[in-house]
Amino acid sequence: MKLKGHTAIITGAASGIGAQSAIRLAIEGADLVLIDLNSCSKTIDSIQAVRPEATVMECLGDIRDPEFVKAAVARASDSFGELHILVNNAGTCGRLGIDNTPLEIWDRDMDTNVKAAFLFMQAVVYPHMVEQNYGRIINISSISGLNGGVTSGDGANGRSGPAYAASKGAVIALTKWAAKELGVFDITCNSVAPGATETGITSGVPYDVSQQAIKRMGTTADIAEAVLYFALPESGYTTGQVLKVDGGYSFG
Ligand SMILES: NC(=O)c1ccc[n+]([C@@H]2O[C@H](COP(=O)([O-])OP(=O)(O)OC[C@H]3O[C@@H](n4cnc5c(N)ncnc54)[C@H](O)[C@@H]3O)[C@@H](O)[C@H]2O)c1
Repeated sequence: MKLKGHTAIITGAASGIGAQSAIRLAIEGADLVLIDLNSCSKTIDSIQAVRPEATVMECLGDIRDPEFVKAAVARASDSFGELHILVNNAGTCGRLGIDNTPLEIWDRDMDTNVKAAFLFMQAVVYPHMVEQNYGRIINISSISGLNGGVTSGDGANGRSGPAYAASKGAVIALTKWAAKELGVFDITCNSVAPGATETGITSGVPYDVSQQAIKRMGTTADIAEAVLYFALPESGYTTGQVLKVDGGYSFG
C-alpha cells in the first residue's frame, strides 16, 4: 500500500492500459480519478473487486477540450484535495500513410496524444503539484515515437501512422522538457513506451513478435507495472526517462 493517501488522475481509463494501470495503482492504495470518453464502469467494478475501500471518481468527456480538462481537474481537486499522480494515457492511432492520412486523423491523433497531455499537465502541475511540492507525471508514449512507427505483420496497412509516430515523439520531448522544469519541486515526469500490447488499439493487427527477444505481445499488466514504478514516491530520483516495455524489440 505504498500509494495510500495518494490521488491519481488517469486518462483513457475505460479500457486497455489505462484501465489496468488504474487497477494496479488502486491495489497499491491510490484513490482514482478515471477519465475517458466512454464509461469506466468495467474499470470501477474491477477496482472494487480488488480493493472495495478505494475511492473512485469517473469524469467522462473529451480530453481534447481545454474546458473539459480544467473542469475535470477542478472536480478532482474539490473532491480529493491534493493531486499526486497524473497518468496521461489516452491515445488514438491512425494507420494510413502520409499520402492518404486525412487532416482529421492527423489532428485527432496529435490532439489526443500530445495536446491533451499538455493540457492536463498545465491544469494539474500549476498550482496543485507545485504547491504540494510533490508530483509524479507518467506520459504513455510508444516505441513508435522512437523508431518512426512499428510495422505489423499486416505490412503498410498495420503500421502506426505518421501522426501517431510524430505525436508520440512529441510526448517524449514534452516529458523531458517538463522533467527539467519540475525537478526543483520534487515533481518527476517520465514516460512509458510500450511495444505491441494486446488492447483495442492493436485488435486485429497481426504483429510479428519473432523479432522480439521475448516472443509474445505485451499485456496491459506488463505496462501497468512500469506505470506503477514511476508513480511511487520511491522513484523520486528518476526523471525525464523513457522506459521501453516492448519484450526486447528495440535496444539502445
Ligand atoms: N496497445 C499498444 O500496443 C500500445 C503500444 C504503444 C503505446 N500505446 C499507448 O497506450 C495508450 C493506451 O492505449 P491502449 O492500447 O490501452 O488502447 P485503448 O483503445 O484500449 O485505450 C485508449 C482509451 O483512450 C480513450 N480515449 C481516446 N480518445 C479520447 C479522448 N479524446 N478523450 C477521452 N478519452 C479518449 C478511449 O476511449 C480508450 O478507453 C495510448 O496512448 C496508446 O497510444 C499502446
